[in-house]
Amino acid sequence: MVRWGIIGCGKIAGKFAEDLNKIEGCALYGVASRSIDKAITFAKVNNAQKAFGSYEELAQNDQIDVVYIATPHPFHKDNTILCLQNGKHVLCEKPFAMNIHEVKEMVNAAKKNERFLMEAIWTQFFPFMHKIRELVNEGQLGKIKMIEADFGFKADVDLCGRLYNPHLGGGALLDIGIYPIFLCHSLLGKPDEISANAVIGSTGVDESTVVNLKWQSGALASLNCTILTDTKTVAKIYGDKAYVEINSRWHESKSMSLNNKMGRIEEFKFEDDYRGYAYEIMEVNKCLNNNKTESELLPLQFSVDLIETLDTVRSHINLAYPSETKL
Ligand SMILES: NC(=O)c1ccc[n+]([C@@H]2O[C@H](COP(=O)([O-])OP(=O)(O)OC[C@H]3O[C@@H](n4cnc5c(N)ncnc54)[C@H](OP(=O)(O)O)[C@@H]3O)[C@@H](O)[C@H]2O)c1
Repeated sequence: MVRWGIIGCGKIAGKFAEDLNKIEGCALYGVASRSIDKAITFAKVNNAQKAFGSYEELAQNDQIDVVYIATPHPFHKDNTILCLQNGKHVLCEKPFAMNIHEVKEMVNAAKKNERFLMEAIWTQFFPFMHKIRELVNEGQLGKIKMIEADFGFKADVDLCGRLYNPHLGGGALLDIGIYPIFLCHSLLGKPDEISANAVIGSTGVDESTVVNLKWQSGALASLNCTILTDTKTVAKIYGDKAYVEINSRWHESKSMSLNNKMGRIEEFKFEDDYRGYAYEIMEVNKCLNNNKTESELLPLQFSVDLIETLDTVRSHINLAYPSETKL
């Protein structure tokens, strides 16, 4: 039985807990909030045995095996290292941290303490991603030549929330632009050339960002993200034989199709009762049960490469955050 803890009782933590409670072989043991009342309420709603009024208390509890970090991005590094130093394994929300310097500190702490660490990029573990990897490996797409992906929604301008607040790591790129970039890294690896453009709003965060990537293999990607408007949020992966279209919202999709110039070749549907977090939770449980300190499907080097691309994009759009001492 893998015993989980959660740090930060916000929106994503609730959705994650809902899936965790549906999975065999693990249990939600404890949850921590900066407010004990909030932790008690969250624990009741989500069947956790214990509620903690500080993150430190949860990290020090010896009944917990692995902690899910669900705080805003600027706190990921410190929350993760707190848990690792207290002997906990960690699954930390995306983006892993604010920049490469912070990610390297986290990776070093995991290695030093010999604990499991993974970035919670849930998309990597969805059935549709397994199917795409299968199609690519079977050569059904041919060589990948082009990727198009977007992720956009209209967010309320609210400085108390994360999205427009630079002190909470706000902006489109780190919140949702990470997904199209992740997709490219997952299928093609780190790009060889990166260019980007953005609209930086009055609060100092990127409200819309477009990114172009290029690989020496001859592939290109055209990606965009925005918190100003609802976009279709679909992804297309074009090979020189056929292409895959992942239906909206592609990063948590339950359907996709394989197509060529004659039309549709095959449709795929992946129905289940999960919100989608179950797949990454099952991956972590499996790794811990096999004494692994990294996931083969999402190793730490993947997160290092991903944050390096995000850092480069940010250098092109002149986006720095108050929490950063260096970029
Ligand atoms: N994988 C996904 O699908 C997905 C979706 C949404 C978000 N995320 C990621 O998950 C993280 C959290 O996002 P969210 O939407 O859940 O955020 P949220 O609703 O704002 O919750 C974040 C929680 O972090 C804690 N926190 C600690 N220090 C804080 C501070 N100074 N200000 C505000 N909150 C603070 C709070 O919990 P306590 O008050 O209980 O301490 C808060 O409830 C982000 O990094 C985001 O990128 C992932």
